[in-house]
Amino acid sequence: MSADVAAQRLDGAGMVGVARERVVARLREAEVVAAALAAGRNVLLEGPPGTGKTTLLRALADGAGVPLVLVEGNAELTPTRLVGHHDASRVLTEDYRAENFVPGPLTRAMTDGAVLYVEEFNRVPEETMNVLLGVLSEREMHVPRYGRVTARPTFRMVAAMNPFDAVGTARVTPALYDRSCRVAMGYQDEDAELAVVAAATGGPGPLVARAVRAVRITREHPDLRIGASVRGAIDTVLIATELAAVRGHEGVGEATGLDAALAALTGKVTLADGTARSVEDVVADIWRRAGEELGKA
Ligand SMILES: Nc1ncnc2c1ncn2[C@@H]1O[C@H](COP(=O)(O)OP(=O)(O)O)[C@@H](O)[C@H]1O
Ligand SMILES: [Mg+2]
Repeated sequence: MSADVAAQRLDGAGMVGVARERVVARLREAEVVAAALAAGRNVLLEGPPGTGKTTLLRALADGAGVPLVLVEGNAELTPTRLVGHHDASRVLTEDYRAENFVPGPLTRAMTDGAVLYVEEFNRVPEETMNVLLGVLSEREMHVPRYGRVTARPTFRMVAAMNPFDAVGTARVTPALYDRSCRVAMGYQDEDAELAVVAAATGGPGPLVARAVRAVRITREHPDLRIGASVRGAIDTVLIATELAAVRGHEGVGEATGLDAALAALTGKVTLADGTARSVEDVVADIWRRAGEELGKA
């Protein structure tokens, strides 16, 4: 157990210190989220996929010296999955006992004083949301046949949501907004994205620049409803480099770059309604245009 957990508080400056080392830019967001958590508040991070939400949270939790318990919000996240269950085979022989309870992520996070990070919160079923809301107000919950679970003082919840995700957003009640602070995480500027991709792929270069420019074009393109995040640029660079090696080429040529971009990006973008072109066609065009804009990578 770290000193901060022993001291039962979250150190805002310590959190930001680690975020500064590991997260490109995003200083304002890091400071505000750290301050909210240090103030004992819960946080709602709102931004599209790939905008560094998980990366930021992981750095802040490490900086505070508390565990990060990560849960993906989806329709299968029942209250039982979140809270825990009694081991069915042991119940048969031993009956229900505290010892045969298998704690779920919420129970573990409360007991360990962790930051519980629920991604895609809007996709969580309503009963599960209600369990979380109850814990946010009471900082404890009653688990049938197990007992009372009390949150350690450092327990916090951070929920992430994609503002462009239509699924279930209506179910996110005002009660959650009322119990959380909201921090928006939009796409970063081109310089920051260049730094993110360079850090993830082994350094800057023309291929990195072209991949970043390409994903940025996807976000504005009239034939696309949803563009790609910086993750698409990272994948393009990594695949192109390996593909060149697979083909026994010295550098990444035009055809290899295009093949990598197609593999990395066509599944990450969504065509706009009424677009007659294929997604391959649109991405190939974007890859060419990114190259032209930068004077060919
Ligand atoms: N500001 C940033 N600093 C460092 N890495 C970042 C940043 N933004 C995104 N990344 C990288 O991009 C990828 C996606 O980031 P992630 O945190 O998983 O996004 P999200 O949780 O918002 O979907 C990861 O590989 C991550 O390392
Ligand atoms: Mg994430």
